[in-house]
Amino acid sequence: MRLRPFIFLAALLTVLSACGGARTTPLPTATVEIYRDPAAAIAARVEDLLQRMTLAEKIGQMTLIEKNSLTPDQVRELAIGGVLSGGGGYPSTENSPAAWADMVNQFQRAALSTRLGIPIIYGADGVHGHNNLYGAVIFPHNIGLGAANDPVLIEQIGRVTALEMAATGVFWNYAPAVMVPQDVRWGRTYEAYAERPDHVATLAVAFLRGLQAPDIAPPNRVIGTPKHYLGDGSTAWGSSTTDNYQLDQGETFGDEAMLRAVHLPPYRATIAAGARVIMASYSSWNGQKMHASAYWLTDVLKGELGFNGFVVSDWAAIDQIDSDYTRAVITAINAGVDMNMAPYDARRFIDALTQAVASGAVSEARIDDAVRRILTVKFTMGLFEQPFAQTDLLAQIGNPAHRELARTAVAKSLVLLKNEDHVLPLPKDIAHLYIGGQAANDLGIQSGGWTIEWQGRTGSIIPGTTILAGIQAAVSPQTIVEYNQHGRFSGDPSAPDAVCIAVVGELPYAEGRGDSASLSLPPGEQRVLRRMEAACARLVVVLIAGRPLIITGDLPNWDALVAAWLPGSEGAGVADVLFGDRPFHGRLPVTWPRSLDQLPLGTGAGEPLFPYGFGLTP
Ligand code: GLC
Repeated sequence: MRLRPFIFLAALLTVLSACGGARTTPLPTATVEIYRDPAAAIAARVEDLLQRMTLAEKIGQMTLIEKNSLTPDQVRELAIGGVLSGGGGYPSTENSPAAWADMVNQFQRAALSTRLGIPIIYGADGVHGHNNLYGAVIFPHNIGLGAANDPVLIEQIGRVTALEMAATGVFWNYAPAVMVPQDVRWGRTYEAYAERPDHVATLAVAFLRGLQAPDIAPPNRVIGTPKHYLGDGSTAWGSSTTDNYQLDQGETFGDEAMLRAVHLPPYRATIAAGARVIMASYSSWNGQKMHASAYWLTDVLKGELGFNGFVVSDWAAIDQIDSDYTRAVITAINAGVDMNMAPYDARRFIDALTQAVASGAVSEARIDDAVRRILTVKFTMGLFEQPFAQTDLLAQIGNPAHRELARTAVAKSLVLLKNEDHVLPLPKDIAHLYIGGQAANDLGIQSGGWTIEWQGRTGSIIPGTTILAGIQAAVSPQTIVEYNQHGRFSGDPSAPDAVCIAVVGELPYAEGRGDSASLSLPPGEQRVLRRMEAACARLVVVLIAGRPLIITGDLPNWDALVAAWLPGSEGAGVADVLFGDRPFHGRLPVTWPRSLDQLPLGTGAGEPLFPYGFGLTP
């Protein structure tokens, strides 16, 4: 079918409609709907569709709403462009792959029943696997992957994450986080790969390449979202005005040169690797919210870096710009935000932006630019051809191969920081093992935040293998393993043929709720350590934490120390290394401070406890 005349017609209609001001009634649908033709060039499909859209339909596309905040009928009525599951946003019916697919498909059917049938893009945070979904494999959080520092492995993790998300129709992943944390007191440190931009860039590109691979669920491709642009990892302690946060969502310190040197490189790299969406940061710079910065969002990101995808706001981040919501919307959209993660009140946003266009405060050209970007991404993802969950992939969710990959990642993430008298690796036929600490036997703790719930949760919240179970499976049948979470044992841990392992850690947290002034272990875990330090002849400490903790005073009491970060569902990977089936591979992706006065990075006197890149091999 010769499309040339129709492309000309579409272009002509575009020009006419641009001259005609904000259209409120739809144009007659031309006989050939180029936008529905998968053989047509994406640019032609976009222009053809754009010129058919009313202003209301365009603004609907710029609206991203949390799934509990609207019904499928409202998605249709408002021509909503995106729906998301926030942290913990699993289906209200049940948290299963099939229920996820049904939930997403319900919204999608509503979107397809609109006048133009534009599919929604459904998003969620798959920051360490499809982590809101019960049954998905849960990978180590990024800081552990940063310690593993294996791009091939991380690309594979991206692929598996994409597959498990595509199976449920969630084709949009709010990952990878490409933050470059400069102060490990930050509750989001564990979402980052490393403290150095080149390290972050290499691993983020690997993840994105895997996640966005075209062969995982054709014709669909899952897309990622490098976040949070720009400077989220360099906020000053005490500068946040959100809840009781200290660092998260605060004011970025440093000049433009620092921002460009430390925080921009991962965006350059991921844009070059095909990033189609970028999420703006809650943080501010020079007193201006990043969501309000036309310089950084438009001049630098879209102009200088040539980013031609779309910018999505963070969760209700636009609201933080101005107490007057309409002014906030005008500022953010004019600055370069293309889609607003509202996330609750669609009408409030739609009305505010409609009013802004009517008053001329936001031009229709800006609206068209935002919608053009959004539609281009949707066509690129194959959503028009295959809008529904790829349910033929459901059976692969959490399968043994995916879990084996995660177990390998866990093993590669462990960093050996101390090993007196080469106590590690342990022999598998050791006579007595005494294991203490809540984190030894708690899948929720070993997975951390962003697991089933936004903040994560302790307990058996996911299927997987605890660190204790991994140890019990690794040792010989003759080995006597005694576990007590409080570190109180009936046997004799002081015996020469005994070794103690204390698996202690932080309780789960996410975002600013994890901002920590002390970087200390919870009191209960400290009591376990004191008990075991007093009772044990040899004590190996395995630290389950999203970041370095201040353990300088405790370290002399331990024979060995292993940083295991937040390993996720496959805790057996820890035993693989403790008992020598796999080598210690990990190296510190962040500097381990000796004291709090060495934070943020580069301040304070003296050497760190362990430098960036440190890690022993027994
Ligand atoms: C959160 C986070 C962001 C996440 C979004 C959706 O507040 O800042 O990283 O992608 O909301 O859950």
